[in-house]
Amino acid sequence: MTSEQQGSQQGVRALVDEKGSDPSSADPISGKPLLEAMAQRPTERRPVWIMRQAGRYLPEYRQFRKDHSFKDLAGNAELATEVTLMPIRRFPLDAAIVFADIMSPLPAIGVDFDFDPGPVVAEPIRTQADLDRLHEPDTDVAPEVITALSLVRAELPPSTALLGFCGAPWTLAAYLVEGRGVKDFPTLRAFAAGEPELLDQLLGKLSDLMADYLIAQHAAGADAVQIFDSWAGVLSLGDWQRLIEPHLKRLLERVGEAGVPRILFLQNAPHLVDAYAALPAEALATDWRLDLGELQRRYPDRAVQGNIDPAVLLAGPDATRAATASLLEHVDALGHVVNLGHGILPTTPIASVEALIETVQEENR
Ligand code: CP3
Repeated sequence: MTSEQQGSQQGVRALVDEKGSDPSSADPISGKPLLEAMAQRPTERRPVWIMRQAGRYLPEYRQFRKDHSFKDLAGNAELATEVTLMPIRRFPLDAAIVFADIMSPLPAIGVDFDFDPGPVVAEPIRTQADLDRLHEPDTDVAPEVITALSLVRAELPPSTALLGFCGAPWTLAAYLVEGRGVKDFPTLRAFAAGEPELLDQLLGKLSDLMADYLIAQHAAGADAVQIFDSWAGVLSLGDWQRLIEPHLKRLLERVGEAGVPRILFLQNAPHLVDAYAALPAEALATDWRLDLGELQRRYPDRAVQGNIDPAVLLAGPDATRAATASLLEHVDALGHVVNLGHGILPTTPIASVEALIETVQEENR
């Protein structure tokens, strides 16, 4: 543990003691700034974590990748635990996110894929026969992720939250139908227009599987979960409401009923943000295209997460400090989780990451 982490832990303890409550008491939120912010409780300072924080911008990750493929790392609980902890050892972050991929739960229902560098599905799903090949989980869903969560939890300081995650049904369907990530997903959009019944079946299966998977992640030690809807924005609002919304809503409801705090992330979908804000989730996370302060004022009952442009960090620590300070100025601290608006880019300088975190931590000093 770094001295900064020890310092921030002591800070949290002091705060909790001041309030007269016991940090080891049954309240699972107290003492974890990320969970407190998601519950819109006041925090000593804003929590911060970074999407894709365990990844290629870290020299120690690149070193690991010389000996192991991404699939090997994510598929092995001990290696995934090591990678999950890399950014936590380096920076005083408020959350660890388990090192896995949105595709990790899909082998359990019979999906075969590889990474190049994004997911490539061996046999895309486009017909009823393809759908029928997807079976009920014949084993535990992603047992390596579940084991990694319990191993990571045991290593984390008590003030650091552990996040589980999954892909939203539509974002998973994007890879399953298109076969790989392609700009604007034309095959997927054609499938939605031509085979709405099949899409409905596919999204239904994915919604059930992901709800079970997130609940299992929570049972294994995840304090909260993030649902990534990275490709939310490729359909119109009307088509989204007709085809996608019921499945995403059911997933969020089932996870909420199980008592799991939810962060819902949508990317590049400004025309859908009001529809997403109406879905049941504790926190709404968006990319940098939206004005997060304005969103917060429009939806005062929702915590917000984000949303610095990851490309700003490529411009170096000064630009990063300026963008972070501007975010802190425009977004109210109550219920704000600081993050990027999308995953950190592989060429990001470490000094920019440090500048971001320091700017957040210095706010109330
Ligand atoms: O945030 C974290 O540190 C946890 C790990 C994580 C990964 N993928 C590891 C990964 C998370 C949360 C994801 C989510 C994910 N995966 C999403 C949703 C978020 C987003 O970025 O929109 C999506 C769409 C995927 C699918 C996926 N997997 C893509 C598009 C890629 C290639 C992207 C790239 O940056 O090259 C992957 C591979 C992948 N998943 C890597 C990592 C660290 C790169 C692995 C490597 O080559 O070493």
